[in-house]
Amino acid sequence: EKDGYAHYMEKEIYEQPRALRNTMTGRIDEAGQKVVFPDLQLPAETIRSIEKIYIVACGTAYHAGLIGKHVIESLARIPVEVDVASEFRYRRPLFGPNTLTIAVSQSGETADTLAAMREAKRNGSVVLAITNVVGSSIAREADEVITTNAGPEIAVASTKAYTSQLIAFYLWGMYLAQEKAALAPAEIASLIQSLQQLPGQVEDILAHAQQLRQFAEAIKDERHLFFIGRGIDHAVSMEGSLKLKEISYIHSEAYAAGELKHGTLALIEEGTRVVALSTQDALHEKMISNITEVKARGANVLGITHEDHVDLHRSVDDVCLIPKTDALFTPVLAVIPLQLIAYYTSVVLGNDVDRPRNLAKSVTVE
Ligand code: BG6
Repeated sequence: EKDGYAHYMEKEIYEQPRALRNTMTGRIDEAGQKVVFPDLQLPAETIRSIEKIYIVACGTAYHAGLIGKHVIESLARIPVEVDVASEFRYRRPLFGPNTLTIAVSQSGETADTLAAMREAKRNGSVVLAITNVVGSSIAREADEVITTNAGPEIAVASTKAYTSQLIAFYLWGMYLAQEKAALAPAEIASLIQSLQQLPGQVEDILAHAQQLRQFAEAIKDERHLFFIGRGIDHAVSMEGSLKLKEISYIHSEAYAAGELKHGTLALIEEGTRVVALSTQDALHEKMISNITEVKARGANVLGITHEDHVDLHRSVDDVCLIPKTDALFTPVLAVIPLQLIAYYTSVVLGNDVDRPRNLAKSVTVE
């Protein structure tokens, strides 16, 4: 059932192109001009009146939510707050009459996420679930559901569910923008075109996966690493850091690249490994400065960037190139090398890749 792959995680990493296509299927009109959600019942009037959005989720789904915030705010211009589900109820969140809550969960059974969405419902919020499991508790209790259709995910460390959740957020953000007329039809059509190229671009990255096996060999004895990035890249860094911790048991920290100098730059010593993400053209120069800061303290840096920024070679020790896409869509591509780094590191360390210690695939206690 692993289809010749050594682990479920490897299989699921390689299933991503198909999973992403499946998340898009039926949600783009035939002309490729508009986003459609045939299953959603939400009246257009309700959609146009949304004033605020909460996203609640745990773990990897929370990290997808952080990207969702960037996407919705930038495309639809609606303010979004992202909360760790286990914290949400206890901070007495503020609900207005036009607040939408989005609960994100691969399994649809996570108790913390379920409790957070119940709190939202109690406060009169409409709840939209983004989940991979049709008929799950979260799907049943939500007012509206967007299924990710990624297929069953067995490995505890989530991969294809995360990238499918990102696609769901892109579609939802574009849909809101379209219904609110926050973007021109031509802008939506051009985003759709870029979105549809993502599965093929993920295939291109996976074809060069071996490069990252060498990196895994190089870091397997490290005590700690840093992942740095700005904006959307910071959110992706958090997911890369979580993935590595979950299955290699090597400690790492994700830092907003510009914040490092205000905090833990002191932890960078001769040879400290840093993975630096720079996928945003508007932030690339600033990232180069931040990379120079860690290099000056002796860091060994792997830079992840897209094809236009080959010049990054001059500032780092190694470069991993990803294909170019729209600025908002880079997380789908940038996370792939991070998943592969975590996977190969776990493999070279001889860990139980699919069933890491102390973790469960779905946690049904609060
Ligand atoms: C955790 C899993 O406990 O639950 C994580 O170990 C996962 O991998 C998190 O991201 C949330 O799960 P779900 O099913 O709600 O997305």
